[in-house]
Amino acid sequence: MLNIALGKGRLAEITLKKLNDIDIKFTEYSSKSRKLIFNDENHRMKLVFVKASDVGIYVERGACDLGVVGKDTIMENEPDVYEMMDLKFGRCKFAVAAPIDFNKESYEKIRVATKYPNVAKKHFEKKGVPIEIIKINGSVELAPLMGLADVIVDIVETGTTLKENGLVVIEEISQVSARLIVNKVSLKTKRDEILTIIKALNSEGGAL
Ligand code: PRP
Repeated sequence: MLNIALGKGRLAEITLKKLNDIDIKFTEYSSKSRKLIFNDENHRMKLVFVKASDVGIYVERGACDLGVVGKDTIMENEPDVYEMMDLKFGRCKFAVAAPIDFNKESYEKIRVATKYPNVAKKHFEKKGVPIEIIKINGSVELAPLMGLADVIVDIVETGTTLKENGLVVIEEISQVSARLIVNKVSLKTKRDEILTIIKALNSEGGAL
């Protein structure tokens, strides 16, 4: 049996639909349930709900063989796993955003609020721009509005949150989408089962 780690939320709903399409059905599952582990009806897969930012560590340490997680989380946490497949859903982008009147020339050091300190640090380091990172855990758009930071680094999907809070994208960092990650040992010991799943998912969407 394969264990798969999923973060609750939109990526999980789409993943479950894709698994259902390849005949791995979690009939007991409902989005309202508080249960954290589900088996599929043919006992081929165990579904484990973890916090999205913990999917990587569950797969890295072998508690789960597979995981579905956003490329944003992979870039931030850099788990030691194989990134096997771009699942092509959950598309959004990493961007730097700021109030409309932001002028970078007027700062010696830019204060950057973000849930993704490693991604932000790497991005500005590459450009040679001095920054101070302010790590926050959500509603990042608030930080420049309240004077906590000058800009934000965050994921942008529809752009609605930025727009409704008077912020604009000033730089795009990279595209993001959901990825299938695999434990390095599991790929050897459960190779056939894992490749069967990848092949089946692949015929539904694209590979990396
Ligand atoms: C994410 C992200 C943005 C928003 C972008 O936040 O951090 O705030 O979604 O989506 P949009 O471009 O479609 O408006 P999330 O909903 O995960 O909540 P959080 O800010 O509390 O982390």
